[in-house]
Amino acid sequence: MVMQNPGSGEECFECTQPAPSNIVIFGATGDLAKRKLLPSLLRMVQFGLLDPRSRIIGIVRNDSDQWVEFVRSALLDYSSLAKSGIDIAPFLQMLHPVEGDLEESETYQGILRTLQRHEDQVNALFYCAIPPGWYTCVAHHLGASGLIAENEGYRRLVIEKPFGRDLESAQKVNRELWRVMDESQIYRIDHYLGKESVQNLFVFRFANSLLEPLWNRNYIDHVQISAAETLGVEYRAPYYEKAGALRDMIQSHLMQVMTLVAMEPPTDFSANDIRDEKVKVLRAVRPIALDAVEKVALAAQYASGRGGDGKPLAAYCTEPGVAADSSTETFAAVKFYIDNWRWQGVPFLLWSGKRMEKRVSEVMIRFRQPPHNLFEGGEPPISNALIFRLQPDEGMFLRMNAKQPGLTTRMQRLVMKAPYQSQDGDMYDAYEILLHDVLLGEASLFSRADEVEESWKIIHPILEKWEESFSLPRYRAGTWDVPGMDQLLNDCLYGWHKPT
Ligand code: BG6
Repeated sequence: MVMQNPGSGEECFECTQPAPSNIVIFGATGDLAKRKLLPSLLRMVQFGLLDPRSRIIGIVRNDSDQWVEFVRSALLDYSSLAKSGIDIAPFLQMLHPVEGDLEESETYQGILRTLQRHEDQVNALFYCAIPPGWYTCVAHHLGASGLIAENEGYRRLVIEKPFGRDLESAQKVNRELWRVMDESQIYRIDHYLGKESVQNLFVFRFANSLLEPLWNRNYIDHVQISAAETLGVEYRAPYYEKAGALRDMIQSHLMQVMTLVAMEPPTDFSANDIRDEKVKVLRAVRPIALDAVEKVALAAQYASGRGGDGKPLAAYCTEPGVAADSSTETFAAVKFYIDNWRWQGVPFLLWSGKRMEKRVSEVMIRFRQPPHNLFEGGEPPISNALIFRLQPDEGMFLRMNAKQPGLTTRMQRLVMKAPYQSQDGDMYDAYEILLHDVLLGEASLFSRADEVEESWKIIHPILEKWEESFSLPRYRAGTWDVPGMDQLLNDCLYGWHKPT
């Protein structure tokens, strides 16, 4: 099977095709399976990232006969590839439903029988596309049935965030998983790490010697890492009401991105070396005192407003499934300091919000101001900024000062732009990249238990404080009007950078 780059149809010479595997999906009729996993698996087969001899075993509560039809219609709804008219029949033949409840041991016997029926394929990947409350139940049964034991091929478990809802619960989940499997069998997905543009951060930093001398407290004023969304809570109130923006985006995705920006170069590209360096960053984050939470963390909730198309947007509190007096934050910002030689005194501002004016995720490195202005007239020099646009329109932008053409030394500001995309504009999706890595046993893009626990430890005081009481100002949906951001960024040059 030839592996291709999406869109181009060109052969991908560096890619490796993983050995065939049994991909067992718990929650095979759920939202994640429908919107993300199944469309990704289809593309993976199409581009040669998944051996078509693999089997996709869907665990469904009942009506297993209907599952293939369910997958067909999910693909026609959510897969651009299926919509483009490719023949999906060969993919549908890879499907094998198994009926049963997650808490019944008979279900796992059913999986075992399905695996035994095709003894030529000994590998198995178990994907928990189910609410996290079920992870330990599934792990327990995988252990009791012998399914997770690596006798012949590999056995791997993939779980999705949230990994716990605080330090204690995260530790508990880890302990339960370790009872039946080794840490090396666990793949904790953080889909941000699968984004091409996030991985590029790592390469851009460590493949360009130009940056290294500047990448520290001597030249950098502060860093802002943001994920602004235009979407509201949508249909996810039952989950989001208990999570909020701090847990949903900052503790996971944005802290992961922060570690990539701040880490030291690993000695090699191995999963453990990379993750060791990321953990060191987290360990160096300055602990937040309970009485200092207000100075470094901010929460807000969207009120009604208007979208970019002028249509009215409902307030969070009136969204379906949300309590009218909900105190869940839909916007959160936290200013961290990393107490080590490289970053001492440099604020790292992480923020994320729903129903913002634009959907943009960025990392902005703000350099210090030029120490002296030699040039009169025109605009004063701005401090340089290097922006990694993570999505959409992935790319890098460097804000510089230059001379205005003419007989004076007047300055102008200019932006050097480097769009980041594949030649045909089509890139692998985060799930395709991450699933391919799990099949290869490549764990560097997955969160290790200690990373997860360290990040919970860091935000613990904020969670604790916000449990007691906190101020939750409102912002108009569809705007950047979040009260308090300017005060939070009072020690950052130019304050809050709203992505444009
Ligand atoms: C998920 C969060 O992990 O990431 C969602 O649970 C959020 O609330 C989503 O919308 C954002 O992902 P992306 O890739 O669209 O930035």
